[in-house]
Amino acid sequence: MELIELSHPLKDHYLSILRDKNTDFDTFRISASKLSYLLAVEATQHLSLKNVEIETPLVKTKGYEIENNSVAISVLRAGLGLVDGVKDLIPNVSFGYIGVQRNEDTAKPENYYEKLPDLKDKNVFILEPMLATGGSLSFAIDTVKKYNPKNIHALTVIAAPEGIELIKDKHHDITLITASIDEKLNDNWYIVPGLGDMGDRLFGTT
Ligand code: URA
Repeated sequence: MELIELSHPLKDHYLSILRDKNTDFDTFRISASKLSYLLAVEATQHLSLKNVEIETPLVKTKGYEIENNSVAISVLRAGLGLVDGVKDLIPNVSFGYIGVQRNEDTAKPENYYEKLPDLKDKNVFILEPMLATGGSLSFAIDTVKKYNPKNIHALTVIAAPEGIELIKDKHHDITLITASIDEKLNDNWYIVPGLGDMGDRLFGTT
């Protein structure tokens, strides 16, 4: 598994807003959206281009076009907070959704929803902002792999070492991009220092 931790002053700025418990819902959503662009730029470094001929106001010249072969998959519901960056930057990206919930007693993932476009030979970007135990992301990756994608990039805002280890063990063939590798999980499987419950903070639930 390739692991990339973003290093950028804008990342530090917006991530601090997300971490701050006094950040209101609007500001939280806007900052998650802004961070999603930084994650999307990093995750799309490898996308293939085709050559096209274009004409400037002066001459004909060489141009490039991103191939239409990318799919973003939001792991519900927190993954919805990272949709903007991939939607706005990747041309003609299609979207899928996987509903995975953590059983609060066992911390094991359970699937409650799945709606996916064609994934065969596609660049797949899985949006799962909080990598805690790694159970939900691993579950989402297993689901995606059944459809033989070209490659898989997982975009996370915060990753705990425990989750990184699990993904490294089970999925050597993916790239994991995170805005931050945090210290640890606490006894309730929350990431420390973390930002609390990403879904609750995005959607104003408790
Ligand atoms: N999910 C969250 O939203 N936050 C955590 O800290 C861990 C899992």
